[in-house]
Amino acid sequence: MNSQNIYILGIESSCDDTAAAVIHNGKILSNIIANQKIHEEYGGVVPELASRAHQQNIVPVVDQALKKAGITKDQLSAVAFTKGPGLMGSLLVGTSFAKSLAYGLNIPLIDVNHMQAHILAHFIDEEGFDKPPFPFLAMTISGGHTQIVKVNNHFDMEVIGETIDDAVGEAFDKSGKLLGLGYPAGPEIDKRAKIGNPKAFKFSKPKVDGLNFSFSGLKTAILYFIQREVKNNPNFIEENLNDICASIQYTIIGILTEKLKKASKETSIKHIAIGGGVSANSGIRQALKDGESKHGWTTYVPKFEFTTDNAAMIAIVGYLKYLDKDFTTQNVMASARLKI
Ligand code: KG4
Ligand code: ZN
Repeated sequence: MNSQNIYILGIESSCDDTAAAVIHNGKILSNIIANQKIHEEYGGVVPELASRAHQQNIVPVVDQALKKAGITKDQLSAVAFTKGPGLMGSLLVGTSFAKSLAYGLNIPLIDVNHMQAHILAHFIDEEGFDKPPFPFLAMTISGGHTQIVKVNNHFDMEVIGETIDDAVGEAFDKSGKLLGLGYPAGPEIDKRAKIGNPKAFKFSKPKVDGLNFSFSGLKTAILYFIQREVKNNPNFIEENLNDICASIQYTIIGILTEKLKKASKETSIKHIAIGGGVSANSGIRQALKDGESKHGWTTYVPKFEFTTDNAAMIAIVGYLKYLDKDFTTQNVMASARLKI
């Protein structure tokens, strides 16, 4: 199967990162990302600014991906792109570019579901990283997503739990904003949590049935807590920042692991994979490690550059679909609410 030389270009533009990657058979040759700094001043992604930045970035990013891979566009076997879900204006840039490139080169076009790609990133050939065996559970946690998916096969996936409001990354970012931290706040909260007391302050966990999540109540609880404490002591945040961060992180991790435990129990699946920017969190990584000894889990965390939004994950899905000859047509449209 791999005796052929299959080169796929992957393009990702669903949110605020313009990314392109080249994969040769299962191995990534290049993985280029242009992060859009512009959103930092606004404390969150501004859709209109994101699509404009994608338009500026897409040609140089693709060009760099090809150069770094050491190939020319004529060597490409197919072009894969993110069809959705994501911001419509952002998706349109990648979709239109991919369509015209594939048309111009007269090669197949492959549409990719961004949420499937976060999961299939585990199938990139990478030394030191094992691929999870089917079936496994995948938890995708980032600024835009919070899902638990039962993965029966590469393209047979079932969402068994998801957030009914904010994503877990938003819970970190919005809490950070209340504390006066920069955006995105997740890494800073993580850093401070390491030297704070996770049990200093208690925040109640939301009561959500089944395997679904909710994070908007936590944000409100933190807001009221801070307002109350600051009224008594205007220096409350500065004096207790590490403990507040540790307590927030402890609560969020508790919410995630509780549902993961429930999902593993209900499905009798003990292979657990995570992805998305929040999987960088040291607390969640520790909780997974603890799950290995406590619950007999085997856990899988991909290489960091393949876990945040990136095009390598789009390229691996492109490669897997190429092997299945699962191509799309020039009539394909971006789809902001695409489901797994
Ligand atoms: O996957 P990603 O780069 O982009 C998308 O949102 O799709 O994830 C970004 C999110 C942000 O909300 C950021 O605060 C969070 O991941 N994040 C973290 C950590 N590193 C990034 N959250 C908690 N702990 C971290 N170490
Ligand atoms: Zn994502």
